[in-house]
Amino acid sequence: MYQTLTVVELTQETADSVTIHLERPDKAPIASRPGQFLTLILPCGPGGKKERRAYSLSSTPHEAPRLSVTVKRVTGGLVSNYLLDTVKVGQQLEVMEPLGNFTLSPSPKAARSLVLIGAGSGITPLMSMLKAVVKTEPNSHVLLIYGNRNEESVIFQKQLATLEASSNGRVQVEHVYSQPLQAGGAHRHTGRLNRTMLLRILEQRHQFPAEQAEYFMCGPEGLMTEARAALDLLKVPETRIRRESFVATAETAEAIAGQPNVAATDVSTSAADNTKTTRSVTIQYEGSEYVIEVPANKTILETALDQDIDLPYSCQAGLCTACRGKCLSGKVHLDEREGLSDSELKQGYILTCVGHPMTDDVVIEIG
Ligand SMILES: Cc1cc2nc3c(=O)[nH]c(=O)nc-3n(C[C@H](O)[C@H](O)[C@H](O)COP(=O)(O)OP(=O)(O)OC[C@H]3O[C@@H](n4cnc5c(N)ncnc54)[C@H](O)[C@@H]3O)c2cc1C
Ligand code: FES
Repeated sequence: MYQTLTVVELTQETADSVTIHLERPDKAPIASRPGQFLTLILPCGPGGKKERRAYSLSSTPHEAPRLSVTVKRVTGGLVSNYLLDTVKVGQQLEVMEPLGNFTLSPSPKAARSLVLIGAGSGITPLMSMLKAVVKTEPNSHVLLIYGNRNEESVIFQKQLATLEASSNGRVQVEHVYSQPLQAGGAHRHTGRLNRTMLLRILEQRHQFPAEQAEYFMCGPEGLMTEARAALDLLKVPETRIRRESFVATAETAEAIAGQPNVAATDVSTSAADNTKTTRSVTIQYEGSEYVIEVPANKTILETALDQDIDLPYSCQAGLCTACRGKCLSGKVHLDEREGLSDSELKQGYILTCVGHPMTDDVVIEIG
């Protein structure tokens, strides 16, 4: 699960973002799917404490043995600043193998219309998907709608222009700038990347019939909400829309083993009741069974890590699904549900990093 990779090259994408290209020292390939992320484990916490953060792969499997991640500076952020300020070619980085379900499976036989909607660093998983489809699917078309402040904040500016120019019309990139430095131009739009802008762009692209396209989106919560509203107006079925967030939204849920998710109003009541007690949780992982006592103010993952049980995790924010498990019995409250689909919740999947037991009979299977 853990690997040590060498930084083999760095590409400065914009003033505040860099692509870090990594390889295993023996150059053996590491399996990945377009849209997955790598977890970087860095000794940059207080007193050299190891911190983990998820970074989507901007590379695709056909670039193996190289894996690349693209990191954008977050103001005041611990790991992004550490990476941007200190990373060097030749440095060794500890990582977890690629994970994540925000993926597409390229197929040479596919003939599909893909619409990728992103803003800022949300381009990274979309870039991996875009390159994979261009390389593998000669009969598919991709429309990328990419929002940024201005021309200078566009990550992969040149790569996108080259991909579009050499694609025989299979790739279209529509840039949306909130504060452009230059006026006018084809495939450039000025304003917020909101539902009106999205509808305007989508309705002009007749080779992307709205209901038949597949949609992948990644960006700030505001963009995701606007995009969802636009797609609802275009009557795009939910099954055609996939999304990934880099930042938590604090939308809660409950997973009950084998039962449908309960109404959100019940959640807060139950969560409040749960502040009183410590509850037993049984965890089945890699052939071992662990029983832990989870206090009300800790998550299942925190409690397990406190007891040196080496469970898998990455973002610790309910986003990336690295800590996903299945609730075989009992009831678990989730502080955040962004990483799980409705169908996963209904099947009893939970995220240990944001999960609290609500009953004393919780059994979770991981892996
Ligand atoms: C599945 C997944 C994939 C990701 N892929 C990428 C990627 O490809 N490139 C990339 O640059 N980042 C990516 N991220 C975000 C990344 O993991 C870190 O959260 C980000 O680099 C900030 O970490 P930090 O230690 O610098 O900030 P922290 O010290 O953790 O946070 C500092 C403050 O910034 C806020 N914050 C955290 N992240 C963001 C953000 N993205 N935008 C605005 N505010 C934020 C926090 O809420 C906090 O208030 C991804 C996250 C997930 C869950
Ligand atoms: S560690 Fe990322 S969802 Fe739990």
